[in-house]
Amino acid sequence: MGAPPPPQRPGISLKIVPVETRVHGAESLMGEFRDALNVDCAYCHGGGRPQETDANPRKDVARKMILLVRQINQKFPGTGVFPVGEQKVTCYTCHRGDPHPVTLSNRRYPAPAPK
Ligand code: HEC
Ligand code: HEC
Repeated sequence: MGAPPPPQRPGISLKIVPVETRVHGAESLMGEFRDALNVDCAYCHGGGRPQETDANPRKDVARKMILLVRQINQKFPGTGVFPVGEQKVTCYTCHRGDPHPVTLSNRRYPAPAPK
């Protein structure tokens, strides 16, 4: 058991998601990120720095992923702007507990049979 999550406060360096987004504790967006990739918070934050620090490049990748998720969900009627409202596609849709989901470009394939 870790320490209880700190109280919610408005984001300091939230560049994409709304400033009032829940970032700590149960039912928070960050918990969703952690679970979708099956990593810990330090995977995108880490390095002993506060979570508003933007030094970890994975945090930037995650920001681009948020934009990607928004773009995909736009194609589905009735969805909100991630993370608000109904979403057809989430981080888990692709990641499924893996920071490196299989894509056509990184999928293993059997070597061609020797002639
Ligand atoms: C997949 C990467 C990723 C993981 C894992 C992750 N975060 Fe984040 N976190 C981000 C990104 C990206 C932002 C900034 C979002 C933005 O710019 O809108 C952020 C922002 C935050 C902020 C707001 C900081 C500020 O600017 O005030 C807090 C607090 C935070 N995360 C806590 C956590 C906690 C706690 C966990 C674990 C439960 C966690 N994060 C896991 C990517 C991640
Ligand atoms: C449409 C599929 C898809 C969706 C949706 C998606 N991702 Fe990704 N994500 C990928 C692929 C593919 C990679 C590249 C994996 C690799 O490098 O092998 C990736 C890579 C990442 C990485 C970098 C991992 C690393 O260590 O290099 C982070 C962080 C990440 N995604 C976070 C997120 C978050 C957070 C969300 C939801 C807001 C999300 N992703 C939604 C497909 C997706």
